[in-house]
Amino acid sequence: MVVTAHPLATKVGLDIMKKGGNAIDASIAVQFALAVVYPRAGNIGGGGFMVYRSKDNAYAALDFREKAPKQSHRDMYLDSLGNVIEGLSLKSHMAVGVPGVVDGMVKAHQKYGSLSWKELVQPAFELAQGGILLTQKEADKLNETQADFKAVNTKDNVFMGTFSKGQLFKQLELAETLARIRDEGEKGFYEGPTADLLVEEMKRGNGIITHDDLKSYDAVWRTPFAEPYKSYTIISMPPPSSGGIALCQLLNTLEQYPIRDMEFHSAEHVHLVTEIERRVYADRATHLGDPDFWEVPQQQLIAEPYLIERMNDFNPDSATSSEKILAGEFATKESEETTHFSIVDDEGNAVSVTTTLNLNYGSKIVVGGAGFFLNNEMDDFSVKPGVPNYFGLVGNEGNAIESEKRMLSSMTPSIILKDDQLYMVVGTPGGSTIITSVFQTFVNVAEFEQPLLDAVHNKRFHSQWLPDKIFIEEATLDSTVIRQLEEMGHTIEERRPIGRVEAILVHPDGKLEGVADSRGDDDAGGL
Ligand code: GLY
Repeated sequence: MVVTAHPLATKVGLDIMKKGGNAIDASIAVQFALAVVYPRAGNIGGGGFMVYRSKDNAYAALDFREKAPKQSHRDMYLDSLGNVIEGLSLKSHMAVGVPGVVDGMVKAHQKYGSLSWKELVQPAFELAQGGILLTQKEADKLNETQADFKAVNTKDNVFMGTFSKGQLFKQLELAETLARIRDEGEKGFYEGPTADLLVEEMKRGNGIITHDDLKSYDAVWRTPFAEPYKSYTIISMPPPSSGGIALCQLLNTLEQYPIRDMEFHSAEHVHLVTEIERRVYADRATHLGDPDFWEVPQQQLIAEPYLIERMNDFNPDSATSSEKILAGEFATKESEETTHFSIVDDEGNAVSVTTTLNLNYGSKIVVGGAGFFLNNEMDDFSVKPGVPNYFGLVGNEGNAIESEKRMLSSMTPSIILKDDQLYMVVGTPGGSTIITSVFQTFVNVAEFEQPLLDAVHNKRFHSQWLPDKIFIEEATLDSTVIRQLEEMGHTIEERRPIGRVEAILVHPDGKLEGVADSRGDDDAGGL
């Protein structure tokens, strides 16, 4: 079963498994395919996280998050007066972190791959060379972004122009880059012509990534986050993602309350979840960062007595002001434009990958002559303590910029076991809403006993401590519930869709059910 943001990427994953490839093989092929068919978030110029659980119950977590270039420093986005230079961490060559995807895929292949590397990159190469038919959503998104493309690119590229649904879209420069990666592995990206083109692009645009940055990039195997919740085990991403810890805090706090007795999307339900989210996101802001640079008090944060104590001031009838929760500040700004895929093979090996360029098309910069977008992940750092970022959030020390540090993420690729058996593979894009989307999808199934189709498609709500609001998708709550929540002291704000969940559920008879979120062009396919 393969669930991705694009039907062609889903097909690539299934084709690899038809050839005898395992879930890791399929994931590698899907990651490269998404870089071609879903360029706004699929990528080779960004980073991500992979969580793996083998049929033999071995877990692994691969961190291929981008790193700050070596010349980075804490105040790199500030002017001489110490003010943030608008746009520098978002739409400039300075916004780019050292990409981690290619090294990540190489490391995943070395450890778990069964088919040859070339077989896994070839489908993406063919899609780039032969072209794809654009979907309406992708054509619209490309058209919408033209002004940004023109503003930041130093050379013309195939993403500039006017696009329409059904148009054949070829990416020949990207095909050449993929051919180098296919033939030379990581050297095809971090050295040789691709690296030369990337460094030349940096020089033309006053960026700071050097050959040395590229050559020394290393994806890291980390100890996966694995914690129990009732009869489940949550396996997710540890720092530099906040996802695993936050998801576990949410669930283990929820466990203290009779959620099953509450009506779905009632004021009682939304109030309780909002109050839990408020406290968890406050902790995230204060305590999380790249563990190679910042001591994350992981065990303390998930300890049950601590989580119970955090709710001491919870009032079932009224909202707590976020200002009273913690004298801390929210850590990062994340984009909504990331992508997730979930894969389970016929043996029961499961892979959950979330990968990102940060914003739509990342920095919007295409490496001249190499045809791929570069991320703007540097903006996930706290650019200056106390200064609100893209989402009106402010940051702190744990996530301050340092040379070669990884920026904090919310990506939450997760695998959930029930009674030690594979139960669910789940993840989503959505910036800071990733954690709450994964949380709510799982709770919808595990506690509200919803079919997976409904659990993924039911409307979501989100609260993240600051700003002190409950964000809801259109038509999430009825007017009586909204009025009740407002009377409790909550501020409700309607916003665009929250998350695009790609989930697989294992039924008691062993059958796999895949659900792709219809908030996008997403597609689930099985063999
Ligand atoms: N750039 C989104 C995230 O990593 O959370």
